[in-house]
Amino acid sequence: MLMAPRHFITLMDLSKDELKTLIARAIELKAMRYANKRYEPFKNKVLAMIFEKSSTRTRVSFETAMSQCGGSAIFLSPADTQLGRGEPIEDTARVLSSMVDCVMIRTYAHEKVELFAKYAKVPVINALTDMYHPCQLLADIQTYIEHRGSIQGKKVAWIGDGNNMCHSYIRAAHQFDFELAIASPIGYQPNANLVAEFKEHVSLSTAPAQAVTNADLVTTDVWASMGQEKEHAKRAQVFAPYQVDSHLMSLAKPEALFMHCLPAHRGEEVSAKVIDGPQSVVWDQAENRLHSQKALLEFLLAD
Ligand code: CP
Ligand code: NVA
Repeated sequence: MLMAPRHFITLMDLSKDELKTLIARAIELKAMRYANKRYEPFKNKVLAMIFEKSSTRTRVSFETAMSQCGGSAIFLSPADTQLGRGEPIEDTARVLSSMVDCVMIRTYAHEKVELFAKYAKVPVINALTDMYHPCQLLADIQTYIEHRGSIQGKKVAWIGDGNNMCHSYIRAAHQFDFELAIASPIGYQPNANLVAEFKEHVSLSTAPAQAVTNADLVTTDVWASMGQEKEHAKRAQVFAPYQVDSHLMSLAKPEALFMHCLPAHRGEEVSAKVIDGPQSVVWDQAENRLHSQKALLEFLLAD
């Protein structure tokens, strides 16, 4: 009997130990890349990448990961596939599963990725939904570890929208065992069930200063995510007191890092001085998408 494939829909799909090993492997794969070591475990493997939203980092990192490891990737957008003309997700999942070795999806409704995975016979990776962005968290944790060592027991401050990234941070707090202090305005707070489920690791307030006090890592994200473009003006008003600027950073520990999944809006959720300043590790974070996703693909594609 064929074993059911492992998927990566949220951070809970891997055990704490598996995640720890995966991050360590990402660091190793990065060193191998820097040493120009040839490593092609994905020879003849194909990744299908369905993008229903825009992407720079996710697309390029997955495609490059497949290519550098000897495999290939196919970019699929709704504009040029039958998905855009209403072919059911279940049918698409069955068809792609019969041809490729792994499928990556970026879409709106989280349920769509879950449905795809239910009908897929190959591993499915969530490359961002309205609810979660687990791949980004792999890169973020790798980056923290590279700069500061273990994140266990550390304090992370999430400032701003209670969005997909915030939800993945909540799950990461549990999986990697750190304290997460979230500051979001009323009406834009993260999913209440998720906060309640992980309350041992997560606290919620409307006060950015309180959240960043003594933090080891300060992180934020855009005020209007993909699909919320029309709310931008209103959100800009509501979120104005939530900008991560030098004053806010000064309340965190002196050695605190600043992270942002990118793309960023300087002068909105973060000041230019902070994102371009010495505490910011956003470029390492972006690069680590490549290395951590290689480790993820290696894990999922293992025979
Ligand atoms: N951080 C991130 O996922 O970036 P892209 O939207 O460019 O893929
Ligand atoms: N919260 C952002 C993340 C982009 C990588 C969005 O969903 O648009």
